[in-house]
Amino acid sequence: MEEGRLRGAVGPGAIIDHVRHALGFVEALDGPATPPSGIAGAHTPPGEAANTSPRLLDLGSGGGLPGLVMALYWPNVGLTLLDSHRRRTDLLEEAIDGLGIGRRVAVICERAEVAGRDPSLRGQFDAVVARAFGQPAVTVECGSPFLKIGGCLVVSEPPIELAPRWPSNELGLLGLTNGEPGRFRGFAYRRLIQSSSCPSRFPRRTGVPSKRPLFHVKPH
Ligand SMILES: C[S@@+](CC[C@H](N)C(=O)[O-])C[C@H]1O[C@@H](n2cnc3c(N)ncnc32)[C@H](O)[C@@H]1O
Repeated sequence: MEEGRLRGAVGPGAIIDHVRHALGFVEALDGPATPPSGIAGAHTPPGEAANTSPRLLDLGSGGGLPGLVMALYWPNVGLTLLDSHRRRTDLLEEAIDGLGIGRRVAVICERAEVAGRDPSLRGQFDAVVARAFGQPAVTVECGSPFLKIGGCLVVSEPPIELAPRWPSNELGLLGLTNGEPGRFRGFAYRRLIQSSSCPSRFPRRTGVPSKRPLFHVKPH
């Protein structure tokens, strides 16, 4: 993380606080609201074949937050760290090599709008996590295509919700159901459940989810 900071991939503030925030994602997924097909029960000993383990995708992983922290916390979870920024994915590859976790952690340098149409990735994940990826409409359109039915999208939230950010009708266009807000380790998160498959028209072309968002929320 310190190296990531030096290379511009980790934001300001104490590294330990970033790690705490990443652990909040762990708790958001492992709590009682985790759906049956989610990643509850992942604390079994390491060594299971990666293809039988829960699969989790970090959308816009940047310097590895929260994905790298989750990979270390759950030794039997298969992680995919996705980012379109080559310098960041190079850094992630180095970190994974250094940590010796390359067997179960994959790094993909690609736009989410493109990766979400790849049959080897689409509908394949038990959970998607997104920390500071983008506006809610962009995050759900880019994240939902990766989820299995019953899978969970966890998004970090601003400390105080000043206006509603997750309109149920528009989430329904993507097959998502709004979950309850949650606070873990003092930070705010939102859980959304993939109740039915994401329709094939999503995600739209690269850049369109942010240029023509499915919905607008009031800025904070
Ligand atoms: C603000 S950074 C957050 C990084 C990390 N999750 C964190 O919290 O430190 C957002 C990251 O998402 C990536 N990103 C933004 N839009 C993307 C897209 N459509 N496809 C893939 N990566 C994207 C950017 O390259 C950037 O690394």
